[in-house]
Amino acid sequence: MKKEIVVSGIRSTGYLHLGNYFGAMRNYVKMQEDYDCYFFVADYHSLTTHPDPKDLKANVFRVAAENIACGLDPNKVTLYVQSDVPEVTELYLMLNMMAYKGELEKVPTFKEKARNQPDNVNAGLLTYPVLMAADILIHKAVKVPVGKDQEQHLEMARNFANRFTSRYGEVFPEPMPFNFGNQLIKVPSLDGAGKMSKSENVNATIFLADEDDVIRKKVMKAKTDQGPTEHNSEMPDYIQNLFLLMDLVCAQETVDQYKTAFNTCTIRYGDMKKQLAEDMVNFVRPIREKTIELHNNEALLQKILKEGAEKARVSARATIEEARKIIGINYY
Ligand code: TYM
Repeated sequence: MKKEIVVSGIRSTGYLHLGNYFGAMRNYVKMQEDYDCYFFVADYHSLTTHPDPKDLKANVFRVAAENIACGLDPNKVTLYVQSDVPEVTELYLMLNMMAYKGELEKVPTFKEKARNQPDNVNAGLLTYPVLMAADILIHKAVKVPVGKDQEQHLEMARNFANRFTSRYGEVFPEPMPFNFGNQLIKVPSLDGAGKMSKSENVNATIFLADEDDVIRKKVMKAKTDQGPTEHNSEMPDYIQNLFLLMDLVCAQETVDQYKTAFNTCTIRYGDMKKQLAEDMVNFVRPIREKTIELHNNEALLQKILKEGAEKARVSARATIEEARKIIGINYY
């Protein structure tokens, strides 16, 4: 039986963190067994902020190494770099004709970026969701494992696909966001304000490259209070977030034990954070060590990415030919 097609990507804009792992990569690793998976490093998407050319390669290779260190097997999935598959940019151009300025301007991530970098509100930033749709539709993906923050981009990808279908005919299926356990997730930052992120909240974000002591320091600084004074009180947001993080890395009985302690007003947040820190250290350490080892093996990463690009281009070429033909670009 033909396996369902899966696509997802991660921008090469910084070190990966627990948000990327639990929002996206944990699903990638599980999906590689049963789906036809295409995972890529979104280097073109990183150009919206004009990174220094001399940093690009190291960033791309590190994200690839981090993906493999988290458990992706390049023999089971197609792992490649976005810019190695030029068909993506051709489809991006085609889909731009299906995307309207008004709807692009309304996207919250665009508005936020435009606010944060008022001197660089470029067209690439505006059409970011179109490039993302091209990434997905180029392989005709039906499932896209992502975190909650990408939900709206996925909705736009479906809109562009549907508009293309009503104008020209069916080339693209509708891609749906995916997470094992149904709901897309948002991994909160340790300071109780917002989510873990590559560029914001860096002191409240646990990176997969963080050393043990850095993790301990960050976790111990997480906001807590004196503890509840009444049994079964409502949990403040910042404590709920700590429990959410515990759910991700700690054993169930450990989480249950601290929940009971909260409900009976016997909780000691210092102990809870120490436990959370140790479980995070144990979770991150093997990934960090494996990433370093892989990142030092440039020849291996090159081989994996080149082979990945070749495989990705076979699928991408077939889609582009179909799209060209249905649009009417078949002159000879
Ligand atoms: P990026 O690079 O910001 O993030 C990569 C993946 O990690 C997820 N993620 C999170 N999930 C839960 N909690 C968090 N705190 C958290 N932070 C990040 C993101 O949802 C994402 O799944 N536009 C995309 C990259 C991209 C892409 C695509 C994704 C380009 N083309 C096509 C899917 C399909 C991005 O910036 O992700």
